[in-house]
Amino acid sequence: AQGDLTRPETLEFTAVAHSTAATMSVAAGYKAEIVLPLGTPLISGVEEWKDNREQSAESFEWRMGDNHDGMWFFGKKKNAYDAKTSESGLLVMNHEYVNSSELSPFGYHVIEDDKAAPIFQNRRLASDVRREVNCHGVAVVEMTRRDDGTGYEMVKDSKYNRRITSSTVAQLAGPVAGSELVKTKFDPTGFQTRGINNNCGAGLSPWGTYLTTEENFLGVFARGEDASQLSAGHNYGRTRYGATENFPSWDYLWHTPDDKDAKIADEFSRWDMTATGINATEDYRNAFNTFGYITEIDPFNQNSVPQKRTALGRFAHENCAYAPVEQGKPVVFYMGDDARGEYIYKFVSKAMWSNKDIGGGLKAGDKYLNEGTLYVAIFHEDGSGQWQALTHGENGLDATNSALPFNGQDEVLVFARAAADTVGATKMDRPEWVSVSPITGEVYVTLTNNKYRGEREDQPVSASNPRSYDARGKARGNDNGHIIRWAETGGDHTALSFEWDIYLFAAPSDLSAENLSELNENNDFSSPDGLYFDPRGVLWIQTDDGAYTDTSSCMLLAALPGSVNDGVLTTTSAGQSTRVGRVASNENIKRFFVGPEGCEVTGITMTPDFKTLFINIQHPGNTWGAVPGGSTPRSATVMITKEDGDVILAESLYQT
Ligand code: FEO
Ligand code: CA
Ligand code: CA
Ligand code: CA
Repeated sequence: AQGDLTRPETLEFTAVAHSTAATMSVAAGYKAEIVLPLGTPLISGVEEWKDNREQSAESFEWRMGDNHDGMWFFGKKKNAYDAKTSESGLLVMNHEYVNSSELSPFGYHVIEDDKAAPIFQNRRLASDVRREVNCHGVAVVEMTRRDDGTGYEMVKDSKYNRRITSSTVAQLAGPVAGSELVKTKFDPTGFQTRGINNNCGAGLSPWGTYLTTEENFLGVFARGEDASQLSAGHNYGRTRYGATENFPSWDYLWHTPDDKDAKIADEFSRWDMTATGINATEDYRNAFNTFGYITEIDPFNQNSVPQKRTALGRFAHENCAYAPVEQGKPVVFYMGDDARGEYIYKFVSKAMWSNKDIGGGLKAGDKYLNEGTLYVAIFHEDGSGQWQALTHGENGLDATNSALPFNGQDEVLVFARAAADTVGATKMDRPEWVSVSPITGEVYVTLTNNKYRGEREDQPVSASNPRSYDARGKARGNDNGHIIRWAETGGDHTALSFEWDIYLFAAPSDLSAENLSELNENNDFSSPDGLYFDPRGVLWIQTDDGAYTDTSSCMLLAALPGSVNDGVLTTTSAGQSTRVGRVASNENIKRFFVGPEGCEVTGITMTPDFKTLFINIQHPGNTWGAVPGGSTPRSATVMITKEDGDVILAESLYQT
């Protein structure tokens, strides 16, 4: 029964209890081990991570980065992708962002400067910025089955081991490549940029490449006062993505290290998007426009250049999930833009799917991802929905548009949020991960939370985002989030209409007014984020900000009764499609794993034999992940296997 696709109907394991401990806990009968923590060397000759954090910035080009996030296990056979092989594989994962204070030997360190503009008040050390740049991006790590037959270990020095960072050269592909909007001092032709950034959720392509996503890239850019040559439309476009004038970047300040050597200075000034010259090719005003894309990586070709697939739009991409492919039909991807009141999108390829393209690498990506139609979702109050095309010349997306005149498809894609505004898309409660049920073909999206819901005029309570209250007495929008789902008309993923309902409302079980899905202490949760249907149709839900609130007050609420650290729940009831606005029974939703205090659990993948589940732990607290005797906590991957070596959830599959 190995690798059996039979889906369990009930869950037999005992739910993991609420825990606010500094350690992780997994369901009885399972084993959870830390692997590949921050700083792990991928090749020989790079010293082991030390708790004093003195490893050089450059050495991180060959170490695991920080804040492990979305990932995928690619089975490997004869040096190529094989979706059925579990003995050996490439574990490819995102490093979303950095915890500056826990990365540098100096902690979070700034040098005060005397320049008057607030944007330049503080400077950071070049070595700290380099280390942070290198701790972002993607890691490709070859893993092989351990000698005892359970779990995996890294193959150090594998030719596949690779880091792609926020300084690796990447190609712009699709309609935005070569556009005026992406021409920079680095590449005046507008085809290349340096780096991928804030890689959050993961995606797999049907042909076997890795799709990484760029989410909060805004945070590493600064913008001062632009010279007047910036058009009103492009000024609006920048602000629509959060980069207002005198935006100092978040705390990263990557643009601030100074150097007399022009080449070194350029390494940092590229994060400053202020328009200082006459032409865009004299400065980095457009570098900002070269981030925010689904980026395709072929892990089996270690010299391949990451491709930013601009046809899929530019926004704060969370993850990217494809609909089951059909020979001779377009390939369809679903995506969320994770910011308060942003949208849900889908991309329909122009090229028709051919099974011959499996294993086709980036060439197959060129075929399916460079041409197609990007749509954005409208959720009507009556449970119907529709997809609006974001195509230049249609739906008011032309040069007459008042907020932002669109002069071509490149402008529609670079400013996809503004284009989606124009066509009346529905503002959602922070769309995070998307996953498609292999059983019903329905699409599920986590709407993690939104403190603006019902609080801001442009984000009123609606049928699809119906909660704006906190039963603990604080009026603060949708605190706990929900999971929405829809079925495309006729089961056709290229359809322009759909029917939606809310699958599950997250809430603490003790708050009856808010607990619309009647969760209990075995399965209550908050802020759904990571979402993954395994190939058997079992749904896995991961949480972020699980102390039943938003981040701003998680410290406070850790003391509340009923609190639980972030974790992983699993359910067999998704995909049975009760379509009654809530699950018929919550008996089949159970808490499977609870992470250590302070962490977020994100990123999930399973080996093809279903015997190993990998999840990631970001920004743990205390000393979780530290070297023995050390005090610096580290993000890491957690490898979960059954103690008896059987497949995950075997106790449910083989009950007699
Ligand atoms: Fe990186 Fe929206 O989570
Ligand atoms: Ca997330
Ligand atoms: Ca989140
Ligand atoms: Ca995160």
